[in-house]
Amino acid sequence: MSFSLDSGRTLALVGESGSGKTTVGKALLQLLRGTASITGQAHLDGMALDSLQGPQLHQARRAIQIIFQDPFASLNPRMRVSELLQEGVAALQPHISAADRLARIETLLDKVGLPRSSLTRYPHEFSGGQRQRLAIARALAVEPRLIVADEPTSALDVSVQAQILNLLSDLQKELGVAYLFITHNFGVVEYLAHDIAVMKDGKLVEYGPAEQVLAHPQHSYTQALLRAVPRLARRA
Ligand SMILES: Nc1ncnc2c1ncn2[C@@H]1O[C@H](COP(=O)(O)OP(=O)(O)O)[C@@H](O)[C@H]1O
Ligand SMILES: [Mg+2]
Repeated sequence: MSFSLDSGRTLALVGESGSGKTTVGKALLQLLRGTASITGQAHLDGMALDSLQGPQLHQARRAIQIIFQDPFASLNPRMRVSELLQEGVAALQPHISAADRLARIETLLDKVGLPRSSLTRYPHEFSGGQRQRLAIARALAVEPRLIVADEPTSALDVSVQAQILNLLSDLQKELGVAYLFITHNFGVVEYLAHDIAVMKDGKLVEYGPAEQVLAHPQHSYTQALLRAVPRLARRA
């Protein structure tokens, strides 16, 4: 498959379960090195990701973050929020002082709508939606250029889903981060995608601006997906 994504934009990667969406995300994150045979190239700001080693790979790992579907499994239950949010910054941006690191994560808690008193708490003290806010803050803490969001709202109640989508949309406008937003939910796609890539059986079958794909889907598979889903209203 082939696609491009600009800063401040969202590419929705849609398709049925097993079509290979998560695999694409993992390949971008360089998590499949050594375990899969990957051909082709991926570039981030001109860096060829697949050939990076050492400090440059370290830098790319900071620039691309991931948010997972299950906010219960993705946050270490033994770590306080303070450690959870600071861990990545300490590892990937070691030149930042402890005081600046703390200031950054306090600001991030404000941004994701959680009280600063969250810092001394453990993940189990939060609801699913709050945990996903924590996961978002954790990803943003290292100032990424791209976030791969792999079905980040699928495990949440519908009302909470909308809040998290709003939050992601607002944060993108503020920070200019790009999202590769993996989902099988076209309602979510309509809400926040600028571009859409449709996968089927490991291949890209349709790719284009969201308005165009939603209004005039070319591939019969996209047409079937669009017929099958309940809709959220698109945000103005
Ligand atoms: N291009 C590929 N070549 C070989 N196996 C693949 C490929 N793409 C996906 N798979 C395998 O197919 C399965 C489902 O892929 P996954 O990426 O998890 O799909 P999705 O996220 O769309 O549900 C995984 O076991 C993955 O290893
Ligand atoms: Mg998946």
